Amino acid sequence: MNSKLKEKIFKDIQAVADRVNTETYVIGGYVRDLYLERPSKDIDIVTIGSGIDFANEVAKNLKPRPRVNVFKNFGTAMLKYKDLEIEFVGARKESYQRNSRKPIVEDGTLEDDQNRRDFTINAMAFRLNGDRFGELVDPFNGMDDLNNKIIRTPLDPDVTFSDDPLRIMRAIRFATQLDFEIENETLKAITRNKDRIKIVSAERIIEELNKIIMAPKPSKGFRLLEETGLLAIIFPELQNMKGVERVNGIGHKDNFYHTIEVLDRLVPNSDNLWLRWSALLHDIAKPKTKRFIEGLGWTFHAHNFIGVKMIPKIFKRMKLPLNEKMKYVQKMVGLHMRPIVLSEDIVTDSAVRRLLFEAGDDIDDLMTLCEADITSKNRRR
Ligand code: CTP
Repeated sequence: MNSKLKEKIFKDIQAVADRVNTETYVIGGYVRDLYLERPSKDIDIVTIGSGIDFANEVAKNLKPRPRVNVFKNFGTAMLKYKDLEIEFVGARKESYQRNSRKPIVEDGTLEDDQNRRDFTINAMAFRLNGDRFGELVDPFNGMDDLNNKIIRTPLDPDVTFSDDPLRIMRAIRFATQLDFEIENETLKAITRNKDRIKIVSAERIIEELNKIIMAPKPSKGFRLLEETGLLAIIFPELQNMKGVERVNGIGHKDNFYHTIEVLDRLVPNSDNLWLRWSALLHDIAKPKTKRFIEGLGWTFHAHNFIGVKMIPKIFKRMKLPLNEKMKYVQKMVGLHMRPIVLSEDIVTDSAVRRLLFEAGDDIDDLMTLCEADITSKNRRR
């Protein structure tokens, strides 16, 4: 028996699979995460035959008997059991046509099902039947890629990405979360297919972007987004921050690299997604406010206030919340220079009081952001 499949539920599923004589596998992210030792509670089960019928059989045999949620249109069923969320689907073959996101779906073999998946590391399956319980089915050598820390599509990357262009974001997201490298042909295909991201909904894109922001080193993802040309499409305001202009031999710092460095520096001190967004946006108005003044050099006058005004449009387009989360980000961006100014000027009590009043309960977050900003101040690239 494969010692990796520790959850008792797999034995329960095996018993049903053997009784109803249905080839059954656990597949995808759960298998990947077992090897990466990232415990997961989301289990995807693939059966050869109806996933819905099989889910009902499994539910009947569990105590207490869980409710089965059926999604007929997708041919899937989901049940929650203890702290697990288990999704059942019949193996399928999908083919896509060029200008539609709607695939033609047919019943298929396990191999068909593995072929239609995004990356080799996400296409591995464990068999759950009989004495082959726990046997790894890995037709694309996902295990080698996992060991060598490589993101690679199972099929020709142009095919895999055009089937679901969100996968070009997912490649960058997994590379960032897991600190993997994207294999060269896969990377080239991301650049080639970047414009296809335009047919993907903003909701799906932001989910991936937020996962990049929450990764241990988000700058890795933002560099990849920039280098592949995706950033210019999904986040032009951030793209505009890249580059250094020079007048009379005087340059300013590259605000794109500065920004993603501030974000990295914030990571060990905060896992608040909205503070991380504040880091990403704190200098967003610098390109708009940039001026060269003889004798003074580069200035970005009022970039904090202009930044605050840019935020609603960005949040709306990206389908980020327009509620108090956005207001918090606006507050952080608006105030981000104030502690620095206070530390450089002769501090008056009233100036400190005003800042404390305006920041309110978020003063500690503001100081955390400022610390990340200041510590990266003198670094150029
Ligand atoms: N999958 C895919 N293409 C997508 C999304 C998902 O091929 N655009 C497949 C992959 O095999 C993936 C599985 O469906 O492993 C489950 O997808 P999902 O739950 O979205 O992702 P996970 O891989 O489990 O990872 P995470 O939970 O971190 O999103």
